[in-house]
Amino acid sequence: TREELEDRVRGVKKRMGDRLFLPGHHYQKDEVIQFADARGDSLKLAQLSADNKDAEAIVFCGVHFMAETADILTNENQHVYLPDMRAGCSMADMADLQQTERAWSKLGDLFKDTILPLTYVNSTAAIKAFVGKYGGATVTSSNAKAMVEWAFTQKERILFLPDQHLGRNTAYDLGIPLEQMAVWDPISEQLLYEGDPEDVLVILWKGHCSVHENFTVQNIQHLRETKPDMKIIVHPECRREVVAMSDDAGSTNHIIQTIEAAPPGSSWAIGTEMNLVNRIIQEHPNKDIISLNPNMCPCLTMNRIDLPHLAWCLEAIEIGDPHNLIKVDSDRAEYAKEALDRMLSRA
Ligand code: 13P
Ligand code: SF4
Repeated sequence: TREELEDRVRGVKKRMGDRLFLPGHHYQKDEVIQFADARGDSLKLAQLSADNKDAEAIVFCGVHFMAETADILTNENQHVYLPDMRAGCSMADMADLQQTERAWSKLGDLFKDTILPLTYVNSTAAIKAFVGKYGGATVTSSNAKAMVEWAFTQKERILFLPDQHLGRNTAYDLGIPLEQMAVWDPISEQLLYEGDPEDVLVILWKGHCSVHENFTVQNIQHLRETKPDMKIIVHPECRREVVAMSDDAGSTNHIIQTIEAAPPGSSWAIGTEMNLVNRIIQEHPNKDIISLNPNMCPCLTMNRIDLPHLAWCLEAIEIGDPHNLIKVDSDRAEYAKEALDRMLSRA
């Protein structure tokens, strides 16, 4: 039963004490996040992993790329585990290393040595290592603006992997016109751009988040007609048009803080993952809050981390027969850490 599973998780946590650390992303299910020692957005979880020097086992309640990041940022005596290895991220899978190397070589023919690569942390360790090797950095949705600004102090152009929407929304906010952004399609291996390539400042990898693409212009139009007083806040992984029509956009942390600061009685539609939206609704009974898409939008891979997997993973660690170790090989980890450190030193 759920109670039994909760008792098992509580038991291991109590017996292991500080030897165990359980970070949880805001998109995790309630049944899991209730046990998190710290909850946060991707930036906060990366910072906490870098700061934690005590825990020997880190059980990451989030998706695979986050656990890889934690492994890269912790020391060799600390081990990171993911309760279910199937908890991936479809966006991270949209940029693989071979595709990226081929793109880099073709873009190099076009633009010579004028491009700095940046990658959203929602990417594999291999992509972070690639970016680190060429002098670039990671970004999160909390610091993308500052990191893109920094990138332009280094080179004339940027290649932004793998989320075209975060890249486009961020560059647009910095005043770069859409006409100076091109999309790199890794399938056709072509730069999708109509004008003179010399004018291109931002090259956007053609990836996206399948959860956030479910929030649409139609959802917004419908709300503006039926509930004109409702404020709309979305995550910048949503399409440009959706962000443009919303009242505000920002990381999961920004969304949480904005709703917390909003006056009682105010009404909000939120465009982000379902578990977080439901939690915000429960935590603010004095505000009128709904999901921007009435069908709600779960992240199926985040949801793979559930109570049975958590209990199983923790008990295996406690008896000294752990499963689901996340280990990034050392060459890759070294370059990936350079990309992460360039971000963390500025975040
Ligand atoms: P943040 O935690 O940076 O808001 O990112 C959201 C997300 O999609 C994580 O997978
Ligand atoms: Fe990946 Fe989107 Fe799920 Fe985040 S919400 S883990 S970006 S698929």
